Amino acid sequence: MIGVPHLDTPISIRGVEIRNRIVMPPMVRFGWAGPLGEVTDRHVEHYARRARGGVGLIIVEAAAVAPNGKLAAAQLGVWDDMHIPGLRRITHACHRAGAKILLQVGHAGGNTTFDNIGETPVAPAGVPLPGKEALGAPRPLTQAEIRGIVRQFGLAAARAEAAGFDGVEIHGAHGYLLSQFLSPVTNRRTDEYGGPLENRARFLLEVVREVRARVGPGFIVGYRLGARDLVPGGLGIEESQRVAVSLEAEGVDLIHVSHGVPGEALPSVPPGSPYSYLVHLAPPIKAVVRVPVIAVGRIVDPGIARSILENGMADMVAIGRALLADPEWANKAIAGRDREIARCRQCEGGCRRARDECPVGRD
Ligand SMILES: Cc1cc2nc3c(=O)[nH]c(=O)nc-3n(C[C@H](O)[C@H](O)[C@H](O)COP(=O)(O)O)c2cc1C
Repeated sequence: MIGVPHLDTPISIRGVEIRNRIVMPPMVRFGWAGPLGEVTDRHVEHYARRARGGVGLIIVEAAAVAPNGKLAAAQLGVWDDMHIPGLRRITHACHRAGAKILLQVGHAGGNTTFDNIGETPVAPAGVPLPGKEALGAPRPLTQAEIRGIVRQFGLAAARAEAAGFDGVEIHGAHGYLLSQFLSPVTNRRTDEYGGPLENRARFLLEVVREVRARVGPGFIVGYRLGARDLVPGGLGIEESQRVAVSLEAEGVDLIHVSHGVPGEALPSVPPGSPYSYLVHLAPPIKAVVRVPVIAVGRIVDPGIARSILENGMADMVAIGRALLADPEWANKAIAGRDREIARCRQCEGGCRRARDECPVGRD
């Protein structure tokens, strides 16, 4: 029966039954990973707590598909089979607690530093990210290297499947490599990977195709779409709608809508709207695809989460920092115990620092 979805309405994606509409979005735990990108005990307990706390779908933080794709010096890796046993500990712990689980697979491209990766970062073109000019210009990728990274994404997804994940989320947002290819600001290539939208989207569609080809038919392939750049002259929502349609045609099962190249130029939000500018990017994408769409961005109050679903703005809601503050957010929200939730203060501080110093909730 099709009806208005609520927070506790189950959803089936590619045959995977997810118990409710609450998603934990990927959030790197800075400084937690081992020197070679290994999972630590802290990671296992961190995700298991949110699974026990009632989250339907956990998307584990960005794991790098290649050593030179790390966005931080210590970040989870999935570039080698040695990562599989550690990742499997996370999937086992979360499955035991009834959650389904994806791994976000990503490549930072030019949005990292020499210090993080021990070499000059690579990017579609030798154009620094806006605001990061001081880091110097990245090195443009050759076509052979592009083909190599496509393959690395596919192998990473296969490892995620071997580690027991229900799927992967391909990181195509926030000014990292796939977002750099899609953005007219950072992609100044003159070959078939640059120029018009169909060329700028070529790399990401190749990544999706490769991932789909290397995993089984019941494995979810999600995509985090940077639907709008936050810099002048950047990617706009109309172009992203066309990309979303192409992603779906390539076999993407789930689209998680966020921003592209970071900056200050926030899209305008209708006056008085209770929703963040990011949440407002989800409905235009949902309007053009049939696959489920996740909305994210400053969803702290369960009432806002409920109304996003009930108003048809998105099919699922991702609760990021608020889940760092209170691992029981989902159980409490589903039970209507809203007032018992330890509220994220949106302080823009603790959780983004090494060692995780959320002033509300601690792991
Ligand atoms: C500490 C931290 C780490 C993050 N790491 C990632 C990441 O690995 N991948 C990603 O796509 N987004 C990442 N994000 C963005 C979140 O997934 C989410 O989109 C953002 O925090 C907005 O949601 P919120 O307002 O509910 O926190 C991170 C955010 C924070 C605060």
